[in-house]
Amino acid sequence: ADPTPETTYRIGFSQRTTADTWRRTMLDNMNQELSFSPDVAFIVKDAGGQSARQAAQIQELLDQQIDLLIVSPNSAQPITPVVEKAYQQGIPVVVLDRRTASDQYTAYVGADNVEVGRTAGMYASNLLKGRGTVVEIGESPGSSADTDRHRGFMEAIRQTPGIQVVRKLAGDWDKQSFDDQLTRLLTAQPTVDLIFSQNDRMALKAYRVCQRVGLADRVTIIGVDGLPGQNEGIDLVDRGVLNATVLYPTGGREAIRTALAILKKQPFKRENRLPITLIDSTNVPTMKLQNDKVIEQQLDIDRQHKRISDLNRTYSNQRNRLYVTLVS
Ligand code: FRU
Repeated sequence: ADPTPETTYRIGFSQRTTADTWRRTMLDNMNQELSFSPDVAFIVKDAGGQSARQAAQIQELLDQQIDLLIVSPNSAQPITPVVEKAYQQGIPVVVLDRRTASDQYTAYVGADNVEVGRTAGMYASNLLKGRGTVVEIGESPGSSADTDRHRGFMEAIRQTPGIQVVRKLAGDWDKQSFDDQLTRLLTAQPTVDLIFSQNDRMALKAYRVCQRVGLADRVTIIGVDGLPGQNEGIDLVDRGVLNATVLYPTGGREAIRTALAILKKQPFKRENRLPITLIDSTNVPTMKLQNDKVIEQQLDIDRQHKRISDLNRTYSNQRNRLYVTLVS
């Protein structure tokens, strides 16, 4: 009489951290997609931004006999051996957003971070009209997001010899912040024109540093992520805090869909490249409208889910009562 179906598959998810909005959105998206498959057990491990912990947690997931591993690596190298081990043991591996340093995986889901960097770089070149001084703020060191976004950004910037990238600061990671470094840099070099921050979170911090040293009106800032919500990318572009952001999709839903296709032996693509979008003042109103619609639709889906489980509960109660009546 239990309306919850038996568990069919156990999916383990090793997440680099759940401390930021982008990662929480990713997890929400995964759970929304999983709500259509109540028979799947979803085991999530949060590495808190520590690569060693993430490697250990992946081993724990393997010990828990998962049927498939989804992994979003903190840093590429340190977790590559254990992911390869999973793959060699025959556990399908879906790599999500950041990559490992290996091609031993079943499928990859995520946007192309070289393209993210290139898009930001091209936009920066246009804004600066061929001349200017740029600072870049990276992602966590050793992550494929950091390496690839930097590569794409430099590739685009190098097309314009009048633009110089004077420094690349490490983003805030492992409790360290770039605040002091950026303050010193901007004080020594008040001629900086543009900051490319590899995510909107750090872009907002960079903006606050610019405000503190009196350069907020001068320095143009470009971020990455483009999330909805207050003080997130779309809102920051809308308010003119950022000039632009590159929308970097979380891939949460697509990762679950790919995982289920693999488990059910249905066709799937090995490389699932998600589209990115540049958001600036010209398209930010449209983005806001679209987001409101998506939020509304998700609320509808949640309401329908609730109604179905209420109905299920009523049904199984009635069935139990009928059974009791019949046998007594
Ligand atoms: C969140 C995050 C995002 C970024 C992504 C890259 O942990 O830093 O802001 O776009 O990871 O992997």
